[in-house]
Amino acid sequence: MKDIPIYQTLTAHREQNYASFHTPGHKNAAFFPADLLQLDYTELPDTDALYEASGVLRQAEEKLSQLFGAQRTLISAGGCTLAIQTMLSLARRKGRKMLLARNSHRSAVNACALLGIEPVWLLPQNGGGFTGTVQPQSVEQALEQHRDIAACYLTSPTYYGELSDIRTIADICHRHGVYLLVDNAHGSHLAFLADNLHPIALGADASACSLHKTLPVLTGGAVLNIAHPSLTEGAKEAMMLFGSTSPSYPVMASIDYCRDYLQREGISAYRETAVRVLAVKQLAQRQGLPQPTGSCDPLRIAVHTACAGLKGCETQTAHFHQYGVEPEFCDGQDAVFICTPFNTENDFQRLETALAALQGTGTCEPLPPAVLPQRQLSPREAVLAPAETVPLGESIGRVAADSVCPCPPGIPAVVPGEVINEQSIQYLSGAGIDAVRCVVRK
Ligand SMILES: Cc1ncc(COP(=O)(O)O)c(C=O)c1O
Repeated sequence: MKDIPIYQTLTAHREQNYASFHTPGHKNAAFFPADLLQLDYTELPDTDALYEASGVLRQAEEKLSQLFGAQRTLISAGGCTLAIQTMLSLARRKGRKMLLARNSHRSAVNACALLGIEPVWLLPQNGGGFTGTVQPQSVEQALEQHRDIAACYLTSPTYYGELSDIRTIADICHRHGVYLLVDNAHGSHLAFLADNLHPIALGADASACSLHKTLPVLTGGAVLNIAHPSLTEGAKEAMMLFGSTSPSYPVMASIDYCRDYLQREGISAYRETAVRVLAVKQLAQRQGLPQPTGSCDPLRIAVHTACAGLKGCETQTAHFHQYGVEPEFCDGQDAVFICTPFNTENDFQRLETALAALQGTGTCEPLPPAVLPQRQLSPREAVLAPAETVPLGESIGRVAADSVCPCPPGIPAVVPGEVINEQSIQYLSGAGIDAVRCVVRK
């Protein structure tokens, strides 16, 4: 009897044959050439080297720059996390702070701690029951108030597919001499839709794109797209600061393979999928299941199921499993589905059947306005301080040493250096978290 639990778990999962509405974007369809995993080479005289790229990897990056309309594109085999670390490292300026949307992923918060970046938080608004987005006037106000900002960092689209008004925010940032950086982890495909909604096309100075989430790329494949020439200087060195010296060649080759696919048939496939997804969204609306409003990613489905009585992550997941559907994630109130051309018509029909079995009221309770916890230390001071694990129930008043969050979506409720309060405890216990890392008391 073999004892290979990871492999055995994955093959057992595959046998359940769920319709995959989660990452990666290729959905394990037969997309890649069968020998991709036998191409697991390393830096050899003819295979180039990622951080000193001058051969085939450099050429692949140049082709990607053309595809995304960027000044410079850097391949990452360390996910969007590495692209975000690189982007923040390039845009930081000594003695200047950074505006960050409070719904930033923990990879950005952790990078700030490691790089010593002081965040000034921007609160998203207008989400109804969903996350919402940072409004242009909030950016304008913050930049008027804080004259020492190097860059503004937003997540667009959000996990729920909500899109910020990047064009207007880019204009505001540029008027103030500030870079606009966008965590576009969930929106690599936005460049290929009928309206180009990619942050680089809308004026962002750099964007980190988790290709593997919504495009047919192996997990870990991502890019950093840079538009502002001043951010290209030292870009490889900045990535080298955090990246592995052994980036996976199959992952990098899958990025190249995906780029070629997009240039041949992929773009029209993504546009056709957007039409199919619209039909599912319309069905959800007829079933009284609210969805995010305003500008949204045409390929992302997020539905509020709580108003149909479907509440709690486990209950939500069980409902969708019953119909053979695996969502990207369920947060207890809403369910999120990632759709790509690698979903089959049968997948969409299963999802429609699962949604048609729900009858919602058409409304969702707006989330209570976010209140920032009190801050005692900078993220860097807290992350580097001696820490201990504390049961959640005993953590009130303690200073968090970590980004405390359920993942997905990986958005910290408490960032390192903040004081844990009653509201955070309630949220975290609802998300199944029972212990937190806290700074040791002096
Ligand atoms: C908004 C956002 N940013 C960044 C990341 C990190 O991306 P990756 O897993 O490719 O490192 C994620 C991952 O889920 C995310 O949701």
